[in-house]
Amino acid sequence: MSASRPAAVIVLAAGEGTRMKSRLPKVLHELCGRSMLGHVLAAAAELDPERTVVVVGHGRDQVTEHLKHAAPGVGTAVQDVQNGTGHAVRMAVEALRGQGVALSGTVVLAYGDTPLLTGATLTDLVAAHERAGNAVTVLSARVPDPDGYGRVVRGDDGGFTAIVEHADADADQRAVDEINSGMYAFDGALLSDVVTRLSTDNAKGEEYITDAAAILRGDGHRVDAAVARDWVEIQGVNDRVQLAEARRLLNDRLLTRLMRDGVTVVDPATTWVDAEVRVGRDSVVEPQTQLQGRTAIGEGAHIGPATVLSDTVVGDDATVSHTVAKEASVEEGATVGPYAYLRPGASVGPKAKVGTYVEVKNATVGEGSKVPHLTYVGDADIGVGVNIGASSVFVNYDGVSKSRTTIGDHARTGSDNMFVAPVEVGPGAYTGAGTVVRSDVPPGALAVSSGGQRNIEGWVMRKRPGSAADEAAQRANASGRNNDQ
Ligand code: UD1
Ligand code: CA
Repeated sequence: MSASRPAAVIVLAAGEGTRMKSRLPKVLHELCGRSMLGHVLAAAAELDPERTVVVVGHGRDQVTEHLKHAAPGVGTAVQDVQNGTGHAVRMAVEALRGQGVALSGTVVLAYGDTPLLTGATLTDLVAAHERAGNAVTVLSARVPDPDGYGRVVRGDDGGFTAIVEHADADADQRAVDEINSGMYAFDGALLSDVVTRLSTDNAKGEEYITDAAAILRGDGHRVDAAVARDWVEIQGVNDRVQLAEARRLLNDRLLTRLMRDGVTVVDPATTWVDAEVRVGRDSVVEPQTQLQGRTAIGEGAHIGPATVLSDTVVGDDATVSHTVAKEASVEEGATVGPYAYLRPGASVGPKAKVGTYVEVKNATVGEGSKVPHLTYVGDADIGVGVNIGASSVFVNYDGVSKSRTTIGDHARTGSDNMFVAPVEVGPGAYTGAGTVVRSDVPPGALAVSSGGQRNIEGWVMRKRPGSAADEAAQRANASGRNNDQ
């Protein structure tokens, strides 16, 4: 179906959302890496409207601030007192008029608390509306439990007559399972007029936008309700139980898309992905894994189990297991974990390895280099083909400022080393076990810093006589003497 470019999309987001019981305005609650409002705006953006206006009111500073980075091109209109959805639309129309915009052509209206909405559904709505030449087309849906929603009332011939809010509906009307989704396509000029004619003569004493349909019909205009194919999409979120349901449904939708695109998701029930996550073909996502923000995974990678990656890039054929990573990158064929922690600025090079109980921050590990065990790498540049011994610390902080450490290509550092930054280990250099590297090591040198070992003979026999250690030592000494013979 073809649809024109709408003159405007208006999104209502001024309500308090009392049932969320939250300091945060309802529409800012998040699911799958975006606010509810952000999801609605992403769907609206697919219509490529000439302008988008969000009506803000309750928590308007927070919502406006959020929009600045989440949807920079979007305008706002203020509704100071929340006098109903019709009043909110009137505020948007008046704000546009104040900017010299007289609406004509198609205007789409949606609510900020329906995060499962898709651009395809809005496009179909606009196309159906324009094809029929309606004054307003209401998107409706048949739902298993219509409780709380506005009901679509139809005449004996099945034609649309009005929307009646739950609070205002009689028993017969409440039995209707076709509900108002809260998404509408309007003729812009008729909308601008009808919002000045809404009454407050109803259960809530508010201006309902839903009354616009019956008023326009009374004026002799064509009005209709188009039934959505998938009622799941139009579910509104009014409390945190519904938020969790919506999150589960959206997650299922995102995982289904990944699987259809060639990704193996071993356990969709315990795998969570955000809306902007990308995963390449033949990658495997193991159970209890969360891929967040703008995480992008290449092809043939193996992620999880029990891994949380946020805003992290993983290359083809890499393996990341039991790992937490944020703003990090793992290049092609690299191995991370089990039990690694990659912090912002960690970059694991091609075929490199970051192993168990290793934390990396603001540091690069060069191609094929290995940091296999029990190590903190902070503020460092590790070259290619390097091996870092177990249990080492890149001592980047002197209590006042942070400094960097450089490890040259093909260096081999011993276990239990401390690299006291700023310091440089040259290419091809070695360090002994237990070295505290306080000054630069020249290329090809061996650095040792621990003093020579001193053994105080017979200390246990003198100081711990009769102990198990004493007896074990005496037995060893006796058998050692025998062996000597
Ligand atoms: C509304 C509809 C109902 C529909 C349902 C779909 C009306 C009168 N009722 O009911 O027919 O079935 O949505 O989910 O429209 N808002 C404002 N300013 C206000 C009041 C609300 O901006 O003064 C915003 C809210 O922030 C919210 C949206 O409008 O995003 C809907 O408001 P809400 O109170 O949730 O309406 P419902 O009772 O769910
Ligand atoms: Ca609602």
